[in-house]
Amino acid sequence: MMGHRAPHHGRGAQMNDRIRTDVAHNARVWNHWLHGKDNYPVDRRVGDHITGLYPSIGEVARADRAFLGRVVTLLAAERGIRQFLDIGTGLPTAENTHEVAQRLAPDSRVVYVDNDPIVLAHARALLTSSPEGRTEYLDADAHDPRGILRAVRPTLDLGRPVAVIMLGILNFVLDTDEARSIVRTLMDAVPPGSALVVTHPTLELGGEGNKEAMAFWNENATPPIRARTGAEITSFLDGLEILEPGVVSCARWRPDPADGEPAPVAQYGAVGVKP
Ligand SMILES: C[S@@+](CC[C@H](N)C(=O)[O-])C[C@H]1O[C@@H](n2cnc3c(N)ncnc32)[C@H](O)[C@@H]1O
Repeated sequence: MMGHRAPHHGRGAQMNDRIRTDVAHNARVWNHWLHGKDNYPVDRRVGDHITGLYPSIGEVARADRAFLGRVVTLLAAERGIRQFLDIGTGLPTAENTHEVAQRLAPDSRVVYVDNDPIVLAHARALLTSSPEGRTEYLDADAHDPRGILRAVRPTLDLGRPVAVIMLGILNFVLDTDEARSIVRTLMDAVPPGSALVVTHPTLELGGEGNKEAMAFWNENATPPIRARTGAEITSFLDGLEILEPGVVSCARWRPDPADGEPAPVAQYGAVGVKP
């Protein structure tokens, strides 16, 4: 396991110092919405209050995870991508990126990145690589893309295509120019054939109570979040070939045919490929 702030030795004590149980954290509340068990009472209280304000938030979380599965499947099976950099990983759950990718291509290499100490504490569950592939966890901040690129080098060959996965994370980079610059730094470092995968909350796709829920979040939980417009989210994909059907509700991005035409959730999803 790689780690900027938490070297191997003495990791437990350092993590416990960093984990705060008095304030709701995004990774843990997201885990609660996904019916996980890795959360504290404060996370459940805040998460349930938000569900009261914004009843479709659980569907958003599940649609986002299902989108991840469909996209990783497509990139591994149809685009031959074997390297994945999953920034803002979240707590381990069903169908983590390496499980989906290595089921199709056992030699896939995956680096997970998150800055929440609870994700670091549970990272071992993400490190169950196939023998042919590799899985690593990096305790790092998305605001430091150059540091992330340096730290992934032992695992990822940046001369070969990489899927940069940023699901539900750019919404925590509050300055849009900075978010654009983070994406550009990452995509400049990877070769043609690489992909950028994004999901991001929005106020444009319905989602009753979303705005009030975000305001409540920003007063009661961490880190602070923001919504963006489809145009702003599309600008993160500048210079990339945006795959069909474009920047759409992630529930409607190439849904499984068995699901018909799912109701939209207020979370855009998109995939861009570097030409
Ligand atoms: C909404 S969850 C999404 C998890 C997963 N990507 C998914 O789509 O299911 C966002 C994750 O981003 C992480 N995160 C938030 N800000 C971050 C930052 N500045 N650097 C790294 N990770 C961050 C949180 O800890 C959380 O695990």
